[in-house]
Amino acid sequence: MKREFLKGRNRFQVFVTLALCCGAISAALILSACSSIERTATIPVSNDGADFVGNAACVDCHKSVTDVFHGSMHSRVRLADPEIGDTSCETCHGPGSKHVAMGGSQRRAMHITNPGRDSTACFKCHLQQHAEFKLPYRHPVVDGPVSCVTCHDPHAAEIMKPRALAMRQTNGQCADCHEQQTRQFVFEHEALREGCITCHQPHGSIHPDLLKQRDANLCLRCHAQLPGAGGGVLIGKTDHSTFLTRGTCWSSGCHTAVHGSNINPHLRY
Ligand code: HEC
Ligand code: HEC
Ligand code: HEC
Ligand code: HEC
Ligand code: HEC
Ligand code: HEC
Ligand code: HEC
Repeated sequence: MKREFLKGRNRFQVFVTLALCCGAISAALILSACSSIERTATIPVSNDGADFVGNAACVDCHKSVTDVFHGSMHSRVRLADPEIGDTSCETCHGPGSKHVAMGGSQRRAMHITNPGRDSTACFKCHLQQHAEFKLPYRHPVVDGPVSCVTCHDPHAAEIMKPRALAMRQTNGQCADCHEQQTRQFVFEHEALREGCITCHQPHGSIHPDLLKQRDANLCLRCHAQLPGAGGGVLIGKTDHSTFLTRGTCWSSGCHTAVHGSNINPHLRY
């Protein structure tokens, strides 16, 4: 799916055909989208039977969002309808007619979806990520307190940054919740400078601790092995061949302080 959209983007525009339930309208809309190069059918979340109204209808009341939105890659994901214009906002929030009609006068029953509270809207398009969040080890997005917007800004240009946090560094996305690993160490592990995701999957993994690999290969990518004197695996100045048969590099007794240490330069503890 990702590839499909990428192709579309390269050709300048991405059209998402929002397959509406109502036959006539949907036929017309899909036909209009057929003139586009790439498309994919997706049914956005519904809001109590409301209809699409287009982005322009949101400007009056949500200027802070519409002002930055043009920079977001999601602004290119839309249904282009000659009657109502672009509908990018509604691809995530669902059709907005009832919400707009209320004039924002009541705070209760807004008739609009907020995917910050429920990621279903995102999973409508991001099927692969949906699968990742079902893996045995995962961030509790579907079943817990973490949400997509913890790490992604849905509206502005930098989608990899959480909105609430001024991200000063590569690991800023993670620092909020994982202080233990992101604090300053006397003996730092330089690997962390490349970001947490050099070793961890951000969404979910088949390996414990969301690791990208469950064995020494996780570390050997960077710690190049040169054949030692007797053909052994030399890491640093030490022959590691017997160590490597005993478990992972971070098993007890070895480099347990993978994120950094205040005591030991070799990250032993
Ligand atoms: C007439 C004013 C008005 C218009 C037009 C309007 N909204 Fe809202 N909207 C509000 C108000 C008021 C709130 C509640 C206060 C707030 O969160 O800003 C709100 C809240 C929201 C929320 C948060 C809901 C929640 O449960 O947290 C979303 C999402 C939203 N609007 C999206 C949209 C979209 C998309 C459009 C265009 C289709 C739109 N709004 C048009 C007034 C409006
Ligand atoms: C990629 C999906 C996506 C698109 C596209 C999108 N939003 Fe949102 N929107 C979200 C998410 C997720 C949240 C929850 C943010 C949070 O909780 O911090 C949100 C929150 C909001 C809110 C609640 C209050 C606030 O300021 O955060 C409003 C209002 C809103 N969006 C309006 C819009 C408008 C208007 C557009 C189009 C210009 C739009 N959104 C496009 C995903 C999207
Ligand atoms: C209507 C379909 C649709 C919905 C709904 C949607 N997205 Fe997307 N999203 C896309 C498309 C298309 C792209 C661009 C993919 C590309 O060009 O690689 C994208 C890109 C992204 C990217 C960046 C991917 C990259 O490769 O850089 C992130 C992160 C993302 N979306 C998160 C979200 C989140 C979080 C939500 C819900 C708040 C959401 N999306 C809702 C279609 C959607
Ligand atoms: C714990 C933080 C975190 C959460 C929560 C999170 N993401 Fe991500 N996401 C990331 C990071 C970091 C990347 C960059 C991965 C990379 O570059 O390898 C990413 C990448 C992506 C991409 C680009 C393609 C890919 O998988 O690399 C998409 C799409 C995406 N996220 C969607 C989502 C959606 C949808 C949600 C909510 C259901 C979500 N993410 C929740 C951190 C997070
Ligand atoms: C909003 C808070 C939050 C953010 C931000 C966050 N995480 Fe997490 N993380 C959690 C929670 C909650 C768990 C599940 C803990 C549990 O199940 O006991 C978790 C679990 C993990 C685990 C598995 C280890 C464990 O204790 O279960 C790893 C590894 C991890 N996160 C890495 C990251 C990385 C890397 C980032 C940045 C891309 C990140 N986290 C961002 C809250 C967060
Ligand atoms: C060099 C690879 C590597 C990098 C980079 C890395 N981690 Fe880890 N992380 C690991 C390994 C290996 C484990 C498993 C440790 C264990 O089981 O004792 C782990 C475990 C964790 C855990 C589970 C609790 C714990 O400490 O055992 C969390 C949470 C975590 N990492 C978060 C992060 C965060 C946040 C970052 C970025 C600041 C990060 N990691 C960067 C390799 C790495
Ligand atoms: C992204 C590359 C990268 C990855 C992956 C990586 N490291 Fe490192 N590591 C470095 C760099 C760079 C240094 C500092 C230069 C050096 O000493 O080789 C370092 C230093 C170390 C040191 C201190 C060296 C000493 O003087 O004793 C240890 C121990 C270490 N790493 C263990 C690990 C372990 C265990 C893993 C796997 C969980 C791992 N590294 C994964 C890049 C990496």
